[in-house]
Amino acid sequence: MKKLTAEDAETRSPDVVAENVEQLKTIFPEAFTEEKVDFEVLKQLLGGMVEEREEKYGLNWHGKRRARQLALTPSTGTLRPCPEESVDWDTTKNLMIEGDNLEVLKLLQKSYSGKVKLIYIDPPYNTGNDFIYPDNFQDNIKNYLELTGQVDSAGNKISSNTEASGRFHTDWLNMMYPRLKLARNLLQDDGSVFISIDDNEFDNLRRLCDEIFGPENFVATVIWQKVFSPKNTASYFSEDHDYILVYAKRKEIWEPQLLPRSEETIARYTNPDDDPRGPWLSGALQARNYYSKGQYEVASPSGKKFSNPKGTYWRFSYERFLDLDKDKRIWWGESKDGVPRLKRFISEVKSGVVPQTLWKYEDVGHTQEAKEELLKYVDFENSENVLNSVKPTRLLRNIVRIGTSSDTEDLVLDFFAGSGPTGHAVFAQNAEDGGRRRFILVQLPEPLPIPEKLVRTIADLTKSRIRNVSKELAESSNGKLNLDNRAVADLGFRVFKLASSNIRAWDPNRDDLPTTLHDSIEHLKTDRTEQDILFELLLKLGLDLTIPIEQKSIAGKTVHNIGAGTLLVCLAEKIASAKVELLALGIAAWHKELAPAGETTVVFRDSAFADDVAKTNLTAILQQHGLENVRSL
Ligand SMILES: C[S@@+](CC[C@H](N)C(=O)[O-])C[C@H]1O[C@@H](n2cnc3c(N)ncnc32)[C@H](O)[C@@H]1O
Repeated sequence: MKKLTAEDAETRSPDVVAENVEQLKTIFPEAFTEEKVDFEVLKQLLGGMVEEREEKYGLNWHGKRRARQLALTPSTGTLRPCPEESVDWDTTKNLMIEGDNLEVLKLLQKSYSGKVKLIYIDPPYNTGNDFIYPDNFQDNIKNYLELTGQVDSAGNKISSNTEASGRFHTDWLNMMYPRLKLARNLLQDDGSVFISIDDNEFDNLRRLCDEIFGPENFVATVIWQKVFSPKNTASYFSEDHDYILVYAKRKEIWEPQLLPRSEETIARYTNPDDDPRGPWLSGALQARNYYSKGQYEVASPSGKKFSNPKGTYWRFSYERFLDLDKDKRIWWGESKDGVPRLKRFISEVKSGVVPQTLWKYEDVGHTQEAKEELLKYVDFENSENVLNSVKPTRLLRNIVRIGTSSDTEDLVLDFFAGSGPTGHAVFAQNAEDGGRRRFILVQLPEPLPIPEKLVRTIADLTKSRIRNVSKELAESSNGKLNLDNRAVADLGFRVFKLASSNIRAWDPNRDDLPTTLHDSIEHLKTDRTEQDILFELLLKLGLDLTIPIEQKSIAGKTVHNIGAGTLLVCLAEKIASAKVELLALGIAAWHKELAPAGETTVVFRDSAFADDVAKTNLTAILQQHGLENVRSL
């Protein structure tokens, strides 16, 4: 039985360096000698693609190396489940995670790598005081707990980035780089990322994204008109817009969804000649591009002659024109002797419109609308608590419509969730089009400027808003949704909180080794629940945090079946030697009944056994029944 420890590669968030090396090895096995990369060989294999110049083009800043390192350092944290703060815990597939997004992104690497269809983020714009970052990177989890007031602080303060720090843009880049790097790993190959930003960091973000996603995957810069009236008090220009940078993971396979046509556009399609093919809109038949077969004379039904106007060409050959006319696809005007035009039937054109780069507030909302929306769902006693940077749900719905489909369980991730418009948009869009999109929101429990009675942090605000939106949608009386079909329309979310691992790290007290050794017999923290440990296992083994879990009592012990037999876990604190056989046979029988397609891992608590003989017995019985992969914690 292999014991899993906190130092064990299997119990940490994945070692990204090791995975990178493995991938490199698969492509270039010749470039490895004795497990080390031979750069000379690698250079030869890459031929002319190696950048040899000393001054390379690209984005460089002080601390970039450390920021890269930060993305590669595994997390020693975990995510603790909070069913009491969740909605529809048992059935939902949505997640709301409270914690520092860098650690959370690390923890999600194994379970969600390549699983996210759309990432939207609205990071702090770096306007002076709007972002906080840990002061020391030595122990991020400890530091995080201190920063968020969850353990006694040894005096560390939450720092905000001020111009006075002298490292203004550098700090922002150091904060963004590792997060974007890790986020990219989570994207599906046909996924995309949308990032809100303003002029403060637009240039840096664009170059950072070029580096992380590749300039060839740049899709568009959207201009969002965020205010509905100009600010006449502005010193220079009234800033009326924000940007949304759009990148695809692999642009060649990314397909944006078409947006629904506006009612105004639909109304432009009419049917003045009662065509049985339905409403149509006419378009010009001539174009400026040279076309050798596009020069001829045509006659209207009344015999009036038309040639291609000077400098233009008919878009079709003469033969094709006659065919179209015969098929009643040429419109000669009400009088039947006007300039010919082509009829385009609404039933035959694309089922929607391609997204444009200019998003007006009439279509996607403005900041004032966003604030009013927030006030509708969260009752603030202190108006200072309404975040300035909130985005309207209509904006997020537009992004969700472009980046996801209603037919699949597309996963949407927002790791700067703020007041939660992304969760709101996913709920609302699914309610409208019957979609099954899911979301993961991540938000730091950053204290509100003036803590409210029930809502003390921004993470509380996120939960409160999406809880109220869920309630409203579930109760909405339009007949489409009600409490009975919640399982169909997933309006729930599971709450998790970032914490230190449930597994004690090996941290010996060299002056008192006997006590250290005694304590390490039970290396699971004693203040953690079975459920805490179960979810840590899911993360370590790369399973979805919303995977179905069921329980059964076998030989008087609770056994958890996770993912229809993928993982069988018994975390009982004591397993008497006399019960070992009964328990092992019961687990083997359940495994047989479940008949999972892949390999099953069986996990026990290491300290539950009276001695090594009991452990060996249990492992042997399970192995006789085909359960080879038996672990202890
Ligand atoms: C610009 S706001 C997002 C606003 C959001 N789009 C909305 O409409 O409400 C950025 C958010 O990121 C959060 N944040 C900043 N640093 C974070 C971190 N390290 N981990 C998680 N969240 C963080 C802030 O608390 C803030 O709520």
